[in-house]
Amino acid sequence: MKNLLVYYDPEFTTKLEDIPIPEYGDNEILIKVVVAGSNPKDWKHPMPQYFNVKLNQGDDVGGIVEAVGAKVKNFRKGDRVAGFHEMDTPRGTYAEYTVCPTHTVFHIPSSMSFEEAATIPLAGLYRNLRIPLPFERTDEHGNDTKFPLIINGASSSVGAFATKFARLNPAISPIIGIAGSSAAFAKESGCDIMLDYRSETIAEELKTALAGAKCYHIFDVSNSVTSIKYLMPVLEKEGRYTCTMGVKGGIYGKGEQQDLLEEKGVWFEQIWVGSVHEDKPAGGKMFGAVISTILEAILADGKFGGQPFEVVPNGLEGVEGALKKLRDRKGGNTKYVCRIGETPGLDIWDVSLSDKDGDKDGDKDEDKDEDEDKDKDKDEDEDEDEDEDEDEDKDKDDKDNTPASRPRFTTTVTFNTPAPTPAAVALSLPSLT
Ligand SMILES: NC(=O)c1ccc[n+]([C@@H]2O[C@H](COP(=O)([O-])OP(=O)(O)OC[C@H]3O[C@@H](n4cnc5c(N)ncnc54)[C@H](OP(=O)(O)O)[C@@H]3O)[C@@H](O)[C@H]2O)c1
Repeated sequence: MKNLLVYYDPEFTTKLEDIPIPEYGDNEILIKVVVAGSNPKDWKHPMPQYFNVKLNQGDDVGGIVEAVGAKVKNFRKGDRVAGFHEMDTPRGTYAEYTVCPTHTVFHIPSSMSFEEAATIPLAGLYRNLRIPLPFERTDEHGNDTKFPLIINGASSSVGAFATKFARLNPAISPIIGIAGSSAAFAKESGCDIMLDYRSETIAEELKTALAGAKCYHIFDVSNSVTSIKYLMPVLEKEGRYTCTMGVKGGIYGKGEQQDLLEEKGVWFEQIWVGSVHEDKPAGGKMFGAVISTILEAILADGKFGGQPFEVVPNGLEGVEGALKKLRDRKGGNTKYVCRIGETPGLDIWDVSLSDKDGDKDGDKDEDKDEDEDKDKDKDEDEDEDEDEDEDEDKDKDDKDNTPASRPRFTTTVTFNTPAPTPAAVALSLPSLT
């Protein structure tokens, strides 16, 4: 099969190679990749000063289950899924087939295109920091329980999913989003108040937006010395600051940002999405299984969808250009996705599996047509004879085998964290990655 290597030699580059279809373990799923999504880490991690690796950096997949390991219970061949491949290991998603651990795979609704699905996994599977998850009870009737949340970079992939998850929790209010040219998308994702990171008076605007409310939670997806400088004045000393880069000895190293945070004396953490693949008593694989299940349910309910995306030309050959665009851009939140079947040289591919237009509205139109067809079928069914009743029974059996109707595992998680202080029930800010 075709497999794309991403590396520096000495400049950033990619190379297609032919390798055998990967093997998979007991708790893993072999997925036929229809669409692979790109993330900023795909050009960062291979850098000599970071991981200095030469491998397939793709982690996001929208595709079809080809085979499952002996211990996989909730998936079967033919299921439409999205998944988060284990970062910085072989068998990535820039290939015809990839392997994902079962705890980071989720079914996608039939109305969702593989392109949209491939924008979700890495940014949407988030690690818990004591944030009340959507299924946890909160008192939406008591105004005194509401607490504000500031998300800097609210239009980014990570920021938008944080916003969408936070929006599901009525106790979090207002959600103050900070974005630039993609502010409209952040607002649509659920921010109550939008501010612009390019404004020279943003520090004052933040104070005004809080309207006297104390702020204990800040999620800084696009953290920099500048952002820390305008965010710190509004964060309470007991508050929590979560970011994506450059602090606490994270993989990107201690940055100047950390000095400012230490000076302020707040609790801070750099998230690490890869922890969802680690064997930790809490916050690791088990958390991955729980959040994947929640995500699957939320997507099925249509509570939220993916990021805006653009399909790159020529499948895997277009990935290099996409990663360079991610590296060089100053604003804009478009996700880049590639359809494997459009890679030159691949002949046996049914691209019709994918939404050819990469157009969500197109999907909706199709759904509408499907609904109309169903109504028509229903009318016709009323006149049908016994043979047709048998067909109906068969249809029912098939329906009972859809992913949504299959038995599901349940998992109870007790997070291994100290009891929250009153101010910080809150706190449990979504450190989504
Ligand atoms: N540590 C981890 O585990 C982890 C996991 C995932 C991602 N990350 C990192 O987190 C960052 C975000 O990742 P992503 O996938 O969400 O990226 P992304 O979607 O490509 O981010 C693009 C967004 O960043 C916004 N932005 C650009 N400059 C900004 C600024 N100065 N202030 C606020 N927002 C700004 C842009 O806003 P406008 O378009 O509105 O101008 C755009 O919406 C990346 O650096 C990535 O490497 C880390």
